[in-house]
Amino acid sequence: MEDFSRRKMLATGGALGALGALGVAAPAAARPLWTWSPAGSVAGSGKGADPRWVWDDVADPLFANLLEKGNVPKFNELLRSWTKNNQPLPPGMPADIRDFLESARQLPAWVDQDKLTVVDEFNKKRGLYFGALYGFGSGMVSTAIPKEARAVYYSLGGWDLRDRLSKTAKLGYDICNAQPYAPENEIIVTCLKTRMIHAAIRHLLPQSSGWQGSADEEIPISQADMMVTWHSLPTHVNRLMTRWEIPVSAEESEAFLHTWQVCAYMLGIKEEYIPASWNEAEEQAKQVFDPVLAPTPEGIKLADQITSMGDRIDGTIMSKGVLESFTRYTLGDEVADFLEIPRHFFWDNLLKRGWPLFIKAREGLIEFPMGPEVFDNFDEILRKVALFYLSEGKKISIEIPERNRPE
Ligand code: HEM
Repeated sequence: MEDFSRRKMLATGGALGALGALGVAAPAAARPLWTWSPAGSVAGSGKGADPRWVWDDVADPLFANLLEKGNVPKFNELLRSWTKNNQPLPPGMPADIRDFLESARQLPAWVDQDKLTVVDEFNKKRGLYFGALYGFGSGMVSTAIPKEARAVYYSLGGWDLRDRLSKTAKLGYDICNAQPYAPENEIIVTCLKTRMIHAAIRHLLPQSSGWQGSADEEIPISQADMMVTWHSLPTHVNRLMTRWEIPVSAEESEAFLHTWQVCAYMLGIKEEYIPASWNEAEEQAKQVFDPVLAPTPEGIKLADQITSMGDRIDGTIMSKGVLESFTRYTLGDEVADFLEIPRHFFWDNLLKRGWPLFIKAREGLIEFPMGPEVFDNFDEILRKVALFYLSEGKKISIEIPERNRPE
């Protein structure tokens, strides 16, 4: 019953909200049950509640209220000056939001500083790869996640995608930074701002007729959706590192997972859904991530807009075609076809044949067999994609949206 009133409050489509609350919304009812066990989570136990029906009980009502009262512009002004993990909250915030942020900014008890130190070295060594892996691996695959593609497209951010991409890159930039969770750095604040944005989106999107017309749910960004997007980040990047044969030690791999477990917690994902190991992450991804990748008109448009942004990357070789081939190579043919990424015979084949050799040569494991000009072009792709992604994230401040994409 508690669940019902919460959903009623958040959803603007009364009758639909009620149907969803009773678990009889047709598309959701047709999906398989959630069977991933909380025993495999960082919490080690839990109720095992299906995360498709769990959102963010603490943040959601606070930001629904802030939006209803028209207080978002004032709140955003306060947020702009709040950037550092250890920085006191700016004066003037509503007391309930202040209490929420003071509690939500605390790191979980299971943070392992040794692992965070290992990940630092790993980021230093592999930072260049991460820019490309997050930017063109995670960023592009997210357009093939139907619920995320629709949510992004119909939110204000989908309307100004360039701005949205820079803002999303902020989290990637912060997590690749040295000691992201240290007091003088910014990831905790970025995660909390993101958590607040998601809470606002849960209130705003149900008011968008475009979103209502295309979405198969009444309230976006459930805990299950959060985990799907989470898998598009560390799990997908981990898979790509394996596929690209980037040398990663077991210790580095575990540390990399750990930094993302902490990030998930700071984003408001419940501990019982955060996988405790890569095995558990893979098990969960097989259930919630792999099967959901699919085309949507919104995702196809977003993917096209992202690959059209090559003009922002200084230089001549980053044409839309090269970015499309890089996307196809990174995501594989099936997902690239979902996104209607055109084929480019020359670059598609060059990347397929040459990229694995390029990585091995860059790692000093072999002599590059394809000539220095090919090596240099690949190196330029890697550097420019990474620079594009990471430098965009450096300068931006993220804020709570007040409205959806104009209709
Ligand atoms: C906003 C990251 C999950 C939809 C953001 C922002 C970040 C972010 C950094 C702020 C940038 C901005 O304002 O555009 C993440 C991460 C996730 C996650 C790390 C999971 C681990 C999701 C999911 C959805 C979603 C599951 C939808 C199904 C959105 C939307 C915005 C947003 C619509 C606001 C766009 C705007 O209007 O500006 N997210 N997100 N996110 N996110 Fe997420």
